[in-house]
Amino acid sequence: MQKTDCDTKITFCSYRQLGDEDKKLVEAAKTASASAYAPYSGFMVGAAINCDGTTVTGSNQENASYPCGICAERAALSTAASCNPDGTIRAIAIAARGRDGFTQEPVTPCGICRQTLLEYELRQKSPIRIIMHGESGTYIAPSAASLLPLSFALPKENKELHD
Ligand code: THU
Repeated sequence: MQKTDCDTKITFCSYRQLGDEDKKLVEAAKTASASAYAPYSGFMVGAAINCDGTTVTGSNQENASYPCGICAERAALSTAASCNPDGTIRAIAIAARGRDGFTQEPVTPCGICRQTLLEYELRQKSPIRIIMHGESGTYIAPSAASLLPLSFALPKENKELHD
């Protein structure tokens, strides 16, 4: 039997330690959270994407039929990919507020959003930096793949059928 480590390099820093581009993306994510429709959870999430230098935002949109709801990250990704299918997504910032204001802890993407981010990353063949904002600090992951070890991919023999 063998054991292996899944190594994930996450940077943890304060807001003021971020570069100007990252600060701009975090501010855009915070602003986008205002457009969330989250009457069921009360958790308003904003995501901002840097696609070839252009900022594209999204927010979570809930539904009375709960599974119909979409997260802020996937709302932003769908917009970015629909408006600019050949664009390269360099980074995504995520921020969220509850009833008491923006979260202290960094907001981390759910599993479905990680898998979705990964697909865009594989498609564009370059990593997407993930900036997870919290008022007490920010996590930065270098790629979606780094947040999803042993991620799902179609087995090679299945994939060939569709290629
Ligand atoms: N949500 C997001 O939009 N992004 C995340 O990264 C985590 C969760 C949304 C889904 C739901 O509308 C609400 O937050 C509570 O889970």
